[in-house]
Amino acid sequence: MNGLPEKLQQKLAERNSSASLRTLGVPNNLIDFSSNDYLGFAFSEKVFDRAQEIMASFNLKQNGATGSRLLSGNHALYNRVEKQIASFHEVPAALIFNSGYDANVGLFSSVPQRGDVILYDELSHASIRDGIKMGNARAHKFTHNDLLDLERRCKKERKEGLINSEIYVVTESVFSMDGDTPDLNAMAKVCQKYKARLVVDEAHAFGVMGSSGKGIIQQLKLQDEIFARIVTFGKALGSHGAAILGTDELRNYLINFTRSFVYTTGLPPHSVAVIEAGYEALGEDLGIIQKLHHNIAILRNEIEDAGLATCFISSDSAIHSLIIPGNKTVKNAAANLREQGFDVKPILSPTVPQGEERLRICIHSYNSEEDIRKLVQHLATFVA
Ligand SMILES: Cc1ncc(COP(=O)(O)O)c(C=O)c1O
Repeated sequence: MNGLPEKLQQKLAERNSSASLRTLGVPNNLIDFSSNDYLGFAFSEKVFDRAQEIMASFNLKQNGATGSRLLSGNHALYNRVEKQIASFHEVPAALIFNSGYDANVGLFSSVPQRGDVILYDELSHASIRDGIKMGNARAHKFTHNDLLDLERRCKKERKEGLINSEIYVVTESVFSMDGDTPDLNAMAKVCQKYKARLVVDEAHAFGVMGSSGKGIIQQLKLQDEIFARIVTFGKALGSHGAAILGTDELRNYLINFTRSFVYTTGLPPHSVAVIEAGYEALGEDLGIIQKLHHNIAILRNEIEDAGLATCFISSDSAIHSLIIPGNKTVKNAAANLREQGFDVKPILSPTVPQGEERLRICIHSYNSEEDIRKLVQHLATFVA
């Protein structure tokens, strides 16, 4: 009875025949246009050495947290870093989770209650959708970045007598597969008008957008309008983990009721030291974020000059998606780029809707201008 059940074999076979079977790759020496390590912090010696110093300053020679943070797994370092994160993001409190996935699943499954409503962007990340599914609130998606649709839904919910219930509006400040950004000023106004609570996932904006990479919410000075913000540390910060930002009361509620916080071993202290070192580096090394934006501008100019702008989803962020419909076609395009030395990942359906398969190009501070130019020149040879 240790063979894979027939039904599961069938599901794998279907993935195979639609060219969407997922497999694990191995590290390569190609030019990186695919990782989320936008600032190169994952390989930064400075961040690495500073994390060792922080460990030494607490006299910490510890490999693991030893338990949930509510039992044996908390440490003074956690409290210090959460204060540092809250101050950096100009918010009363921050609570660290083991990953962005855990933060979103925990937040959306525990905060909205039966009788409440969640209105979420249709392109929200899987972790947001999974959290919503696990909770008891009703949920409806609104059309991607469409404020009229959002307002129509808020109006309908309030008209239907949702006087004492909460409405949560959920979006991302940079969408992970499209790289685009909603009009957050206008969205905050809609939320104010209908007394809805706005939740923004800044996974791909943190470290990239705003001064010192503080994210788009602070760039727009909207921090006081937001019920909860999610920042993740596995992308521009080059480490691992995430934090939910909000009030002290929200933090207290999450510590008490959020299962992905309560029932799991805390991050090892070393990971927390890397997060602290990453935040310090963000505050100190402004040149690296400028270099990233310089490279993004080069990519955008090259795309424009090559006449490819209409094939791309418009984006100011580090993520630029070139739509190439069809799993097989987009996989072939990525293989073609690989042969030329470029690592660009194809994003297949069902991760994105059928017909919207794409090459997802991630720009980094460490990409050379020449490589960006060559990449676009090569794309132009097979995108007509
Ligand atoms: C928008 C968004 N939120 C959350 C996550 C999950 O973050 P993590 O990789 O830390 O689990 C991701 C990662 O892909 C993401 O793109």
